Amino acid sequence: MTILTNIGQLATCPPGAVQQDAGLINDAALVFEDDKIIWVGREQLVPEHFVTQRPIDCGGRLVIPGLIDCHTHLCFGGWRSDEFEMRLQGRSYQDIAAAGGGIRSTVEATRSDSAKQLLEKSLRSLKGILDLGVTTIECKSGYGLETTAELKQLQVYRQLSQQQPVDLIPTFLGAHMVPDEYQQQREDYIRLLCDSLIPLVGKEKLAKFCDVFVEEGAFSINEAREILCAAAKAGLGLKVHADQLSSGGGAQLAAELAAVSAEHLEYADENGIKALAEAGTVAVSLPLASLFLRERYLPARQMLESGVRVAVATDFNPGSAPSYHLPLAMTLACVNQQMTPQEVLMGATTVAAQAISAEQRIGSLLPGFDADIAIIDAPTVNHWLYHFQANVCCGVVKSGQWVRELS
Ligand code: NIG
Ligand code: FE
Repeated sequence: MTILTNIGQLATCPPGAVQQDAGLINDAALVFEDDKIIWVGREQLVPEHFVTQRPIDCGGRLVIPGLIDCHTHLCFGGWRSDEFEMRLQGRSYQDIAAAGGGIRSTVEATRSDSAKQLLEKSLRSLKGILDLGVTTIECKSGYGLETTAELKQLQVYRQLSQQQPVDLIPTFLGAHMVPDEYQQQREDYIRLLCDSLIPLVGKEKLAKFCDVFVEEGAFSINEAREILCAAAKAGLGLKVHADQLSSGGGAQLAAELAAVSAEHLEYADENGIKALAEAGTVAVSLPLASLFLRERYLPARQMLESGVRVAVATDFNPGSAPSYHLPLAMTLACVNQQMTPQEVLMGATTVAAQAISAEQRIGSLLPGFDADIAIIDAPTVNHWLYHFQANVCCGVVKSGQWVRELS
């Protein structure tokens, strides 16, 4: 049994609570045993029988649930710094993609890298991710776009799960775009996805979710519907990359299919937002993608006021969001999406857990939840997200184990 004392502020982040209220307790303590939390509350109320020989003193710091990055493209070959420069000179993301760059160039690099190279590169990222206090990430395929390379990415995720402490929740994104060799036969690629790859991924349990990029130049609403229906049949949960660069009805499709989440949504309109609210689909905001593409930010206030829960994630990928810094995404969500620090923290904990259907197990510091905990060197949630620093996480517990010793 471990008892953490002298917690200046504890954010419990209760599941299902209104997003504005992160369940803060000042001058708190927390007790965990094995991999579960067994008690939280005001330190002066700690039951006698929990008082052990050597409590761990948190020094008045902030304690939060281990952060959850519910949208990443962790495994990819190469980088695209040349495109960064081109965009700064005025070329658009879509322009560059149409000219042969973009996702296509990462597909080439990912196909040619070995599983070992991809694994080692992802492992380095995961080390940095854990250091920031992130204990669970969702991670997508989608840079293979052919059977062997898609499976290679998903196998890398499976191996990574066994080699380091961050929990990986894999998503199949074979419908990221139509690969070059199928440009003249789109329908054949959709058949490959629906009749072969998706059933295989479902059967081998290589992914928990299926995602589709709905956008001009990627997949239409009708194509996405067909792919997602095949995924539901194969036992996968549903996600949609929707309304990122234009308003195309992606949010409505996510709602229609009761997808667990719709992601991006920078261009979501009133009807899309209403549909998400009615379906209870989580909106996943990706402020780093807006930052790097110099695009608009998701209309978070309108969403929250309409009853849509808004998660905050990085979208880490080599094109639109070349950073896995979730706390930076969180500060950007405050400044550019007008979310309060508590709403943002909920968005990167219990609401993010909801976006991967895990909100009954992780994302909250309450008895019965997994002991996934980050200790942050800041006095309060407000102060943490306002005084942005490179990394103020100073201790991480994953499933009851100290994976980063308290410093
Ligand atoms: O989420 N929108 C589609 N996919 C990624 C970008 C992928 C890339 O540019 O490599 C995203 O932004
Ligand atoms: Fe993405």
